Amino acid sequence: MTTPLVVVGCGGHGREVSTIARAMDAGTGQPRWHLLGFVDDRPAEENIKRVHQLDLPYLGGIAWLRDAPTDTHHVIGIGDPRVRRAVGRRVDGYGTPAASVVHPAATIGPDTEYGPGFVAFAGARVTTNVTIGRHVHLNQNATVGHDSTLADYVSVNPLAAVSGDCHLAEGVLIGTTAAVLQGLRVGRDSTVGAGACVVRDVPDGVVVKGVPAR
Ligand SMILES: CC(C)(COP(=O)(O)OP(=O)(O)OC[C@H]1O[C@@H](n2cnc3c(N)ncnc32)[C@H](O)[C@@H]1OP(=O)(O)O)[C@@H](O)C(=O)NCCC(=O)NCCS
Repeated sequence: MTTPLVVVGCGGHGREVSTIARAMDAGTGQPRWHLLGFVDDRPAEENIKRVHQLDLPYLGGIAWLRDAPTDTHHVIGIGDPRVRRAVGRRVDGYGTPAASVVHPAATIGPDTEYGPGFVAFAGARVTTNVTIGRHVHLNQNATVGHDSTLADYVSVNPLAAVSGDCHLAEGVLIGTTAAVLQGLRVGRDSTVGAGACVVRDVPDGVVVKGVPAR
């Protein structure tokens, strides 16, 4: 069965998300998604052009989803975890279900559980006994080790490595190429800077950077 799908956000991240949905269907002969297009409250003109380059329409503001055709699903294509959370809460009120998109070149352990709105880019790797919440995004070549938990609205940016037994609380951003060593907790809404190495627990609501991360 083909499911109508709308991407929320027509910036670079959102357009990348649309390409994951397309990659899932490439060569299958039985498309899973019918990409309807993008919604965005404040799209830059250049991004509307880029959406058209993908042969997809800009449908209108996010409220378009409120009156969307029955069965329409959405996926939030916004990289910043806290902006994604704000938009996600609003869209939840419209009642269109969130879809998860997993690139065929991602590997997700068979005993991994993930919530709606999960996005796994090409090369993302999740091993075993990992629990992933709602609207979590794993960017290209991000890795997550055994027995970790990623709460709602976490983003792990390209090439970042989350070791085994880690806990990333809601709204955490792990920057590009950063490492979180085994068994550590990163607190709610905290940011780990690009290239950082986290060697001890990170409290809630802070930014840490550098090696070791401070
Ligand atoms: C760490 C981070 C959150 C800081 O953002 P910010 O508060 O806006 O920081 P600024 O750009 O104002 O820089 C503040 C200082 O931190 C330094 N800095 C910025 N990012 C840094 C990083 N990742 N590692 C080490 N130092 C960093 C800057 O050089 C600057 O130093 P200075 O005061 O000596 O000049 C951000 O730079 C970062 O790394 N974000 C992750 C980005 C990412 O993953 N992008 C990929 C998208 S797919």
